[in-house]
Amino acid sequence: MLELYGEVRAAYREFARYAAGASDTFAQWALAVAEDDEVVAWLGELPPVKRQPNLVFAAARLHGVPAPGPYEGFRAAVLGGEGVAIRDTILTHATQTNEARRLATLLPALTLAAGGRPLALIELGPSAGLCLLPDRWSYRWRTPNGEHTIGGPDDPELDCDVTGPAPLPAERPAVAWRSGLDIAPIDVRDDERVRWLETLVWPEQHERLARLRAGVELARRDPPPIVTGDLRRDLDALIDRAHAEAPDAAVIVVHSAVIMYLEGSDRRDFEAAMRERVAEGRCHWVSMEASGVVPGLVAEVPAGHLVLGLDGDAVASADQHGAALGWLR
Ligand SMILES: C[S@@+](CC[C@H](N)C(=O)[O-])C[C@H]1O[C@@H](n2cnc3c(N)ncnc32)[C@H](O)[C@@H]1O
Repeated sequence: MLELYGEVRAAYREFARYAAGASDTFAQWALAVAEDDEVVAWLGELPPVKRQPNLVFAAARLHGVPAPGPYEGFRAAVLGGEGVAIRDTILTHATQTNEARRLATLLPALTLAAGGRPLALIELGPSAGLCLLPDRWSYRWRTPNGEHTIGGPDDPELDCDVTGPAPLPAERPAVAWRSGLDIAPIDVRDDERVRWLETLVWPEQHERLARLRAGVELARRDPPPIVTGDLRRDLDALIDRAHAEAPDAAVIVVHSAVIMYLEGSDRRDFEAAMRERVAEGRCHWVSMEASGVVPGLVAEVPAGHLVLGLDGDAVASADQHGAALGWLR
């Protein structure tokens, strides 16, 4: 057993280290899974890509396993009567957390890229599209020199700690045109899909859950369009549409926590294609991914931070959920 599923145990131990402090429930569950032969064997029957703790724990929660709650609740559910339904959810769902706070780190780069023009925004992998609404949130950036806030008093707020010479915008950008491109978009009006999004937020992260709910409410008033498609194949058509339908706007392709879903060679191909599109003046490119996930976008960033890229250059480090921005130069 140990030899057969050693990589499952190792992955759950690694996840426990990653979750410690942010979700003690999931950290404890993951450590317990790694020692539990029966649960490890149950996981071992899933396709490797479906064994990831985030997906498995969220599926169990969707089927009523209390979290926070003891490991025994999770164990009894997967090995007992709920096991088949949980397995079915794992096989039919994917992790696609939508974190609007990332906009607080993306907005300075989006504004720089726009150069004073309205935005024609194309988001790759937007999930439910909460980051497609930069003009509908308000922002509070805390800098060493004090706070900088923009946006309407009634708009839900995204806050972020800033260091370095970040070009914080004086006002929210105008968005002339927007569209997402996602292989499995989430319709914000679909209660069941929204429940799945909520379940993906770790149990102790009450602030993130509240922000998600505020974002869903905001998006439901006028949901952003999201095209179903693959960023590896369908982006050029969308760029063409943006130019045709918003000829005076700056076309900006943006993505956060998405390229990790691609295989290595696809990541390289995507980067090459984006650099070419930027060089040809077809679009600007704002990216927020872990260092090296876009292979040429590598920077030394604090633990838990992603690299913020502007037209293929690393310009900042950004907390993975948008809580902090460290402008590099
Ligand atoms: C972790 S979510 C990120 C959501 C959002 N960008 C954010 O920062 O909150 C990743 C999204 O990428 C989408 N995705 C994965 N592979 C894709 C592909 N090849 N083409 C388009 N979308 C993809 C998934 O469906 C999912 O909605």
